[in-house]
Amino acid sequence: EAVEYGLDAPFEVEYHDSVPSTNARARDLAASGAEDVVVLADEQTGGRGRLDREWSSPSGGVWLSLLFRPDVPMAQAPAFTLAAAVAATRAAREVGVDAGIKWPNDVLVESDGDERKLVGILTEMEGEADRTSWIIVGIGVNANVGPEDLPAEANPTSLSAELGAPVDRRVFTQRLLELFEELRQDPEAAVAEWREYATTLGKRVRVETPNGVVEGEAVDVEFPGGLVVDTGDERVTVSAGDCDHLR
Ligand code: BTN
Repeated sequence: EAVEYGLDAPFEVEYHDSVPSTNARARDLAASGAEDVVVLADEQTGGRGRLDREWSSPSGGVWLSLLFRPDVPMAQAPAFTLAAAVAATRAAREVGVDAGIKWPNDVLVESDGDERKLVGILTEMEGEADRTSWIIVGIGVNANVGPEDLPAEANPTSLSAELGAPVDRRVFTQRLLELFEELRQDPEAAVAEWREYATTLGKRVRVETPNGVVEGEAVDVEFPGGLVVDTGDERVTVSAGDCDHLR
């Protein structure tokens, strides 16, 4: 059922029972000059994921998009995506779900070597090289949704599935926004904190980047968000791509 959010957030909140995509709605708001707004929905009918995938968003999740206008060059924008992953991970841990982050921003729960996805993040931005006009960080938390209501190929889990009981979405969302608000003030510190929750570091990875495949051991993450991979021959920093943990 719909939630009366009544959030006391550091952002203006626009709540929808149902909307095609909170990111799409936030883009419209960006075009009309808005800032520091969060668009929140109980259900999305056309949720979008990374790499043009669909993002299944039934009622019961926390589907939200943050629109803000940080005073940073565009190249630093990825740090805000990592900051959002840190905020979501901390919020999940605070309710008792032992989440970790797969580079750059998938929040997962690991058990018996299996990785189940709890949160996905889709960032969009616009601006010029030296000046960001806006950033939209879309965060999708499988909160009170049964994994059976989500596509199996995504290997999903949810807060309620992990805990065996639903969470209070208002409290969870409030905390997520507070944490993000704190982290966005200092993106370098957020990236440093990202390391603490990383499940990727120390693993063998295969990253499909726009310039080809990089395989090796993930050894570090660098501000504003590049993954440092030791291929055996050299250390390569990849700034974007789809990452698989090999073992
Ligand atoms: C991914 O892992 O592929 C990213 C998923 C991002 C989903 C969120 S839900 C709120 C916001 N609105 C969208 O349409 N997508 C993001």
